[in-house]
Parts: sequence; structure tokens; C-alpha cells
Amino acid sequence: MAKDTLTITDNRTSKQYEIAIEEGGVIRASDLRQIRTSPKDFGLMSYDPAFMNTASCRSKVTFIDGDEGILRYRGYPIEELAEKCDYLEVAYLVVKGELPDADHLARWKNNVTIHTMVHENIKRFMEGYRYDAHPMGMLLGTVGALSTFYPDAASIYDLESRRLQTRRLIGKMPTLAAFAYRHSRGLPYVYPDNDLSYTGNFLAMLFKMTELKYRPNPVLEKALDVLFILHADHEQNCSANAMRAVGSSHPDPFSAAAAAVAALYGPLHGGANEQAIRSLMEIGSVSNIPGFIKKVKEGERRLMGFGHRVYKNYDPRAKILKKMANQVFEVTGKNPLIDIAVELERIALQDDYFISHKLYPNVDFYSGIIYQAMGFPMTMFPVLFAIPRTSGWMAQWAEMVRDQEQKIARPRQVYVGEGERHWIPIERRPKPDMREEAVSEAI
Ligand code: CMC
Repeated sequence: MAKDTLTITDNRTSKQYEIAIEEGGVIRASDLRQIRTSPKDFGLMSYDPAFMNTASCRSKVTFIDGDEGILRYRGYPIEELAEKCDYLEVAYLVVKGELPDADHLARWKNNVTIHTMVHENIKRFMEGYRYDAHPMGMLLGTVGALSTFYPDAASIYDLESRRLQTRRLIGKMPTLAAFAYRHSRGLPYVYPDNDLSYTGNFLAMLFKMTELKYRPNPVLEKALDVLFILHADHEQNCSANAMRAVGSSHPDPFSAAAAAVAALYGPLHGGANEQAIRSLMEIGSVSNIPGFIKKVKEGERRLMGFGHRVYKNYDPRAKILKKMANQVFEVTGKNPLIDIAVELERIALQDDYFISHKLYPNVDFYSGIIYQAMGFPMTMFPVLFAIPRTSGWMAQWAEMVRDQEQKIARPRQVYVGEGERHWIPIERRPKPDMREEAVSEAI
């Protein structure tokens, strides 16, 4: 009978080793350490920059089949959740593992909503940012600052504390995000209106002017809710990995979440939708698409909003958004960039370069077009990603804290620097090599 093991022959020593294969296709990298040439030898290591083929944890939160274009939270297909749930219901599912019954959902919504206010000092802290501060930079600093307001959050092994910090952060993210937006516009901050839904209240804090009661447009409120559902989690992406890696040294979750926001800021992650819109604006018209595609194929440009580490098929979130765009345009008027995007996608998906590299639109290709039509400036796009991703970060963090196998995240390295050498007095040192290649390598 076939055994779930792997036999390795080390040709340096002719020794054979049998290593267990777990979960239908996983070996433990530490099992390689027994493969050594002498008792003093450190043993074999695997080398895997950017975790291209290394699982860093076991997780029950999100399942992705990148070849088939499947995304599920806690087993539920993203398409069903986007159609049938609202964001807070999905956040409950992501954080707690099951869909709530009506009673638990009502309590959860209340428990999150009572945390939408922030301390007045947070407001004053935000006022200290420059008038033109990027809202994502403001959010990053302020999420970290929350740790100083809630010292009880350091009790990461206390279940009740973890639950409280989760409700606090999910509740406060829209408020922090809206304050950052109002600050960048020179507008007074608007306090939460807890009569409204999660996304309705967020829209009110962003766009309320002199009216006594802001009434969000229901189509836009729903569209934003769907966008939030699609962004709630995405397994071990760069920011979830940052949340787990920083959380593994056991700071409070606000400090770890600040690291996750920082990771999301980058143009290869949450900043990609801003870059995607900039590319579409640069293309300017359908007739310029072939010229742009040529530049991408020649390696001069990257088509932002295309390609994914895991999806080698159409990102299911992009499919939902492409359909939803038209419902939003009925209210906001059409964003002319959609015509360029649809044609760009059509041409790209027939092109050998994109086919052979398995590059398909990802969630960021259409989300920016919708956000722009709804009146959001581009600098707010990564912020709009960070709000819903908070539930995913907190779920990933709590899973890491409870996982007995997890320890402080501390990768190995392959040292390729100088061998031992000895200090020499400054006057006897050779002139440093200032050639560009030598200097750039050092920084
Ligand atoms: N445009 C053109 N070529 C691309 C693109 C692209 N968007 N993405 C990947 N490639 C090519 C790349 O040049 C490389 O080609 P070759 O093998 O010939 O050198 C090959 O495809 C593999 O690319 P990679 O950069 O090694 O792949 P990765 O898994 O490290 O990167 C990615 C994944 C998402 C960073 C990358 O596809 C990318 O930069 N896409 C644009 C940015 C973007 O849309 N990011 C949002 C991702 S979805 C939201 C999220 O989860 O954050």
C-alpha cells in the first residue's frame, strides 16, 4: 500500500531519509534538518524568498483555489456572501467562524456600533497631521496610536480582551478613515451616527455637510457594503502576514494592525487600485490601449490590477465588481474609464503574454473605477481596503495567538556576506569603493 512519505537520498553521503507527507501534500521544513553530512553540520534548510512555496500556518479562515478562481470565507462561497449578507454579518463569520443567528447578529452589530466613537485626543492627534497628509499614512499612525489609549489590549491571552479589541477596531476604523478624509479636505470631522448601517454611517462621516441628518443613497450604501464583503479577508496576503508576523512577538493587536495597514499601503497590495486608475487615465482612450499593452509586454510597465500570486484564473471578486459597476453608474453617472478597462481586459485576455503568464484582472482592476464614480479621491482607495480587511486581520491574529505551534516569526537566512575580518584604524583603511553598483548594494 502507498505510504504518505517522501524518501530522500542525499547523494553527498548516500544516506536515505523518510519524511512524512501531511495533509495530502505538505512536508515540514524542519524535517530536512536531519539531513546532514556530519554531526556538526547545521542540516538542510529550504530557501524560499517571498514564501513562494511555504505555508507559514494552518488556517480555517479563508480558502482560495487560485487555478479555479474560487474564494470562500469559512467555507462559504464569496458570491453567496456578497449577494445575501451585509458586511457586519460577514465580519462576524470571518472573526467567529460561523454565520450568526438573528439574535447574535443583532448583538454583534450593537457591540461593534457602540465602539464607533474615538477618544477626543485621537481627533486632536489627527489634527496634527499636515493639511496634505495622505489619508493612509494618517490611518497607519492612528491605528498604532490606539494602542496607547487601550493598554488593556496587551492581554492577548485573555479571550474577552481579544473580543473587545476586535469590536473596538472594527467599530473605529470607519471613523478614523473618515476623519483622515475630512482632514485632507480641510472639513470639520463628523461624528458617527449610530442609527445608520456600518457603511451608511461611514458615508455620512465622509460626506455630511450642513444637513441635520445625512441619508445615504441606498444603492451606493449597498455597493460599498458589497465592496467591503469582497475585501474582508484573503488568507495569507502581505498584510495578513504582517499582522501575524508582528503579532507573533506578542504586542497588542493595535500595534500589529498598524503593521498590517503599512503593508497594505504599498502599490503591490492595497495601493494597486490607485495605480490601476492612474494607468487607465494615462491610457486616456481606447485607441491608445495597444501601445500601452506593448509597453507592458516589453517589461517597461506593469498592468496594475492584473495578476496575482495565488489566482491563475479570473479573480472571483473582480467578476462581481465588473457586474456591480453598472448599478453604481446608474446613480453616479458612468465613469468613462470603464470603457477603457473593459477593452483593456478584452485585449489582454486574448494576448499571448497575458495568457502564458496567467494574468487576469484582480479585485483592484474594477474597484477603483467604482470608488472614483462614488466620489472618492484616489488617496482614499487603500483606506477603503483597510476598513473591511480589519475583520480578516483580527481573525488571522486571533488564530495565530491560539495556535500552539506558532512561535515568534523569525526566518532563517542564507548568509552571503564577508567571512571574518578584523578592525583596522581609520587612517589605514582603503578608500571606499563609491562606484554606483558598490554603493547601491550597500543601501
Ligand atoms: N503586468 C505585467 N506583467 C505582470 C504583471 C502585471 N500586472 N503581474 C505579473 N507579471 C509578470 C511578471 O513580469 C513576471 O513575468 P516573467 O516571469 O516573464 O518575469 C510574471 O508575470 C510573474 O510575476 P511576479 O511579479 O513574479 O508575480 P508575483 O506573484 O510575485 O506578483 C503581483 C503578484 C500581484 C504582485 C503581481 O502580479 C503585480 O505586481 N500585479 C500588479 C499589482 C496588483 O494589481 N496588485 C494587487 C493584487 S490583488 C489585491 C491584493 O491582494 O493586494
